[in-house]
Amino acid sequence: MEYSLKSFEEYFAQSEVIRMNHYHVDGRLKHVMLSHQFSIQLLEELFDIADRVKEMTRKTNGIEFLKSLLGHKKAMLYFTQPSTRTFLSFLTACQMVGMDTGEVRDPSLSSEYKGESQEDGVRVFSSYFDIIIMRDPKPGFCEYMAYLLDNTGRSVPILNGGSGKDQHPTQALLDLYTIHRSFQQKDGIRKKRYAFVGDLLRGRAVRSSVMLLSQYKDIEMDFVAPSSFQIAEDLEKILHNQGVKINKTDKLESVLSKVDCIYMTRIQDEYDLTGESNNIDYSQFSLTTENVKKMKPSSIILHPLPRRNEISPNVDADPRAMYWRQLRNGVYIRAALLLYVFNVAHRLDEY
Ligand code: CP
Repeated sequence: MEYSLKSFEEYFAQSEVIRMNHYHVDGRLKHVMLSHQFSIQLLEELFDIADRVKEMTRKTNGIEFLKSLLGHKKAMLYFTQPSTRTFLSFLTACQMVGMDTGEVRDPSLSSEYKGESQEDGVRVFSSYFDIIIMRDPKPGFCEYMAYLLDNTGRSVPILNGGSGKDQHPTQALLDLYTIHRSFQQKDGIRKKRYAFVGDLLRGRAVRSSVMLLSQYKDIEMDFVAPSSFQIAEDLEKILHNQGVKINKTDKLESVLSKVDCIYMTRIQDEYDLTGESNNIDYSQFSLTTENVKKMKPSSIILHPLPRRNEISPNVDADPRAMYWRQLRNGVYIRAALLLYVFNVAHRLDEY
């Protein structure tokens, strides 16, 4: 195996179906790379684990018991793209289940500064730690690292904390966990109409959540975006093949009263090549105290955050605003994922 960018490109050029074969061992998920690696059955197992973890954190003996579960494991957090929530919620989740952690957030303070390749750096992490949680701006790069470790190094699980514009699978987990908890008494995630609003072309959270959600029956999706930032063609084709009913529009007002869940996103202008975000009137894709009045009383508002102006802070007090709860749920579902990956979730029964 040659450690070269060419090899990475060749690897990533293979279909997802082929690549996904590398991410399971003995029928269990080892590496978390793509949101659609999770079946509905596995999602429900994780939701149940997360609920139990959440409950246990309310009691001192529950907190102590959780800490005993993975005290023998260590996690490396390698984040070369900025993050607040994903980094901190993974860190908190690790602490919750007793794991020690190491981190590199600024490669200029690691030996990458001296010219060491990222591939070699990740091999070093795999020598010292039992799991690597990483975010990188290059699409597919953490997939490639998982493949390299499996074939050439000390193989440890890798969790994708966000890879370029393509995937953010654990964000999708916390999004669906929040939807699941919000609609527990009303058919759960199924039989709902979901609107995704904003920069849908470049938002990896949207892509991952849409792909995960599309496994559920009887759902409809509205994609509300400026025409230049509508969902990617390949995603639309996947939804079409799965029989998901979709509607594309640039008129937010046209969907507000119809949907059960509205998922807001910011403009992803860090990916601009030629200032393509500059001429967008984003106020047309924003929630205010006025236009949320049109939404159903039973609906919910999500946002992966960070936000800019697409949700007025005055909306935060609305009982349908779930985005602060959503980010807190990120800790519990990520703790659940760690317990699942290290195959110790069954030990919760001992509590
Ligand atoms: N939602 C999310 O990924 O937030 P951060 O970029 O702060 O991690």
